[in-house]
Amino acid sequence: MRALSGLAIISLASLAVCKPTARNMRVLGRRDSAPSGFTLKGAASPDSVLNLRIALAQSNPAGLEEALYDVSTPSSPNYGQYLTKEEAAQFIAPSTETVSVVNGWLAENDLNTTSLTPAGDWLGFKVTVAQANELFNADFNVYTAESTGKQTIRTLTYSIPAQLEGHLTVVYPTVTFPKTGLLKPVFSSVKARRSEDIRSRSDDVASSCADTITPSCLQSLYGIPTTAATDSSNKLGVSGYDDQYANKADLEQFLQEFRPDVSDTTSFSLETLDGGSNSQDRDDAGVEADLDIQYTVGIATGVPVVFISVGEDNSDGDLDGFLDQINYLLDQDSPPQTLTTSYGDYEPDIPEDLAYNLCNAYAQLGARGVSLLFASGDGGVSGVQSESCYDFVPEFPSGCPYITSVGGTTGVNPETGVYFSGGGFSNYWGTPSYQASDVASYISYFGNTYEGRWNKSGRGFPDVAAQAENFDIVYEGSVETVSGTSCASPTFASVIALLNDELLAAGKSPLGFLNPWLYSTAASALTDITSGDNPGCNTNGFTATTGWDPVTGLGTPNFDALRTAAGL
Ligand SMILES: *[C@@H]1O[C@H](CO)[C@@H](O)[C@H](O)[C@H]1NC(C)=O
Ligand SMILES: *[C@@H]1O[C@H](CO)[C@@H](O)[C@H](O)[C@H]1NC(C)=O
Repeated sequence: MRALSGLAIISLASLAVCKPTARNMRVLGRRDSAPSGFTLKGAASPDSVLNLRIALAQSNPAGLEEALYDVSTPSSPNYGQYLTKEEAAQFIAPSTETVSVVNGWLAENDLNTTSLTPAGDWLGFKVTVAQANELFNADFNVYTAESTGKQTIRTLTYSIPAQLEGHLTVVYPTVTFPKTGLLKPVFSSVKARRSEDIRSRSDDVASSCADTITPSCLQSLYGIPTTAATDSSNKLGVSGYDDQYANKADLEQFLQEFRPDVSDTTSFSLETLDGGSNSQDRDDAGVEADLDIQYTVGIATGVPVVFISVGEDNSDGDLDGFLDQINYLLDQDSPPQTLTTSYGDYEPDIPEDLAYNLCNAYAQLGARGVSLLFASGDGGVSGVQSESCYDFVPEFPSGCPYITSVGGTTGVNPETGVYFSGGGFSNYWGTPSYQASDVASYISYFGNTYEGRWNKSGRGFPDVAAQAENFDIVYEGSVETVSGTSCASPTFASVIALLNDELLAAGKSPLGFLNPWLYSTAASALTDITSGDNPGCNTNGFTATTGWDPVTGLGTPNFDALRTAAGL
């Protein structure tokens, strides 16, 4: 009750209705109500301990963006001259003024923090609910997630002292509720298949491609080499969340069935954080993890694959995992040159400042030469999954302009945008210059259809696409078929990893942040997909057409042409 001393003449009546510190506080986060699916249980115990994180204002995000484009744009003299860890972090490191203002406040309140990033832009600390309510004029309550019964402590509003305004941009998780709807494969057609069915068709790749997708079908369709990559410094990272474990016995069986030309002992390495693990009990296998590992190890032949399993320790919300993983990679001197992630969230569910902060972390990795690929979502224009909506719902992080978003296709003759392919326009980020003319052409084609439901000045996604329906995987010992843009992202990432292998072997820089290259030199090296749409929100969604479109992006890979576009 520190501020009370100066307020001695305020009447008791007014003290009763407003907190004494309110006049010096500025609201930083607020929501009208808990998201649907959560019910208020009651006040949180004052002694419960919260893991809070604060984000400090970044000193020069515009400089980071400029540096990112400078090293990622083929026409730039600095193309491929990637930044070091320290150089990238410097743009993001808070200014000395910000550090001193925030440190003053931390000391005044006796808070001990841990720095969570190399740049020092995130600090973590533990406080009791009572302290947090006092520090942030908050009202932390217990909410129950109806679907899981899991309890979570959140507030609907919080404030910071006026002197921190502009220096402290986010207190997390506060108003950000956990999500249970992270991007997962769509189980539209899971069915076990008998082994004889597979063998009888294995000599006819084209017809198997039209029915179910296998590594050999993708190799044939996209011209992906089957010979083994050779560069051991090349790494392809696969993100694992949500206690999804990649099973080695499933991978071995998958290789026996679908890549008889490579050793069935070919495997992957494991990195873990936040108490992540990779249980090899076959019952613990995760469909998403099995899919992602089988279509990286099984396509990026010979490329060292690393499964990065993010656990839930130290985690009080799903975005903790995203934050921790990216900070874990930023801390590495040599992060994987390619990373594929088949998880995402609804953009409107992520507070804007937190979204910008994460997106800038992706920009740092891009500036250091890392290609980040994310699945574009499985709900068409309605977001991560199919949902009822009026306005189209963009996905995060697909709306972030510093990553490559991968949409989905189906069929081979012609290859068509698949109905669930997530696509649209961000409300948080404007159209970046690398795609400005492509997006303008699309908007002039699509005109005013569904006007007002999507943002004509937003960053358009996806950037590219790959097959996404009826992938054969081995899951808990049997062959099953799965669909989703979760299939497309590992496939496209494998293509990039194989190109990087050749670049590194030739003594050249890896491809790094892909988009400026994709939208210029490499655009004609992709197969333009000109049919299909992505319905959602009770509409037909967007329609694929000639050139870039928000269903299939610029198109699907043509390995030989991409190799030439990469200067090989
Ligand atoms: C913070 O750290 C200092 C020095 O390690 C310690 O004396 C103090 O008790 C800590 N304060 C809290 C609130 O944990
Ligand atoms: C549309 O996108 C622009 C650019 O990011 C943004 O400034 C604007 O607020 C968005 N409009 C809506 C309605 O969200």
